[in-house]
Amino acid sequence: MQTSLHLIAISGSLRAASCNTALLRAVQTIAPENIRVTLFEGLAQVPPFNPDIDIESVPLLAQLRDQIIAADGVLIASPEYAHGVSGVMKNLLDWLVNTPAFVYKPVATLNAAPRAHHAFDSLKETLTMMSAQWIAAASITVPVYGETKDTAALIAHPEINAQLRQALQAMQLTEQAQAVLG
Ligand SMILES: Cc1cc2nc3c(=O)[nH]c(=O)nc-3n(C[C@H](O)[C@H](O)[C@H](O)COP(=O)(O)O)c2cc1C
Repeated sequence: MQTSLHLIAISGSLRAASCNTALLRAVQTIAPENIRVTLFEGLAQVPPFNPDIDIESVPLLAQLRDQIIAADGVLIASPEYAHGVSGVMKNLLDWLVNTPAFVYKPVATLNAAPRAHHAFDSLKETLTMMSAQWIAAASITVPVYGETKDTAALIAHPEINAQLRQALQAMQLTEQAQAVLG
């Protein structure tokens, strides 16, 4: 059964040459026809989280919330800074905590740095607390450095390419299982 899937991809880095963004762009590029991956490009415009501000008054965030609700899943790749999730990524998640965006939403966290585990673990904890369905089989660790630092190199690397396809397949199997269970 070939179901179509729409995934929202969010990179937790604002760097132009970000390894995390490169990884998500690689997933986006190799995704088969029935899987659409939309990269969130507005992270730099997200204001500092303030619980006094209604998310409806921040159109960028209200729109992202609605996109995630409508999507079949989310892919997140975020750098580790000082053993934590990047501030901009955590800030975005804080805005979405009191919304249904991540509730029961299949989410994969992609780790672009094998030596970094604090941010990966912390991201998983936050997403689980937000009632997301963390998909272990899709949450891969990929060495994005040296020769594999950009999107084209990631796609050209046979093992990494296979890992990315497996991650997408795991998201698809999750969607299919949910469709069967209703
Ligand atoms: C201020 C700062 C702190 C960092 N802290 C860590 C760290 O605690 N652990 C780690 O593995 N890497 C750390 N790094 C390395 C980044 O995670 C790494 O450069 C990563 O590739 C950045 O992601 P990006 O390429 O998507 O921007 C740090 C980098 C910076 C600039």
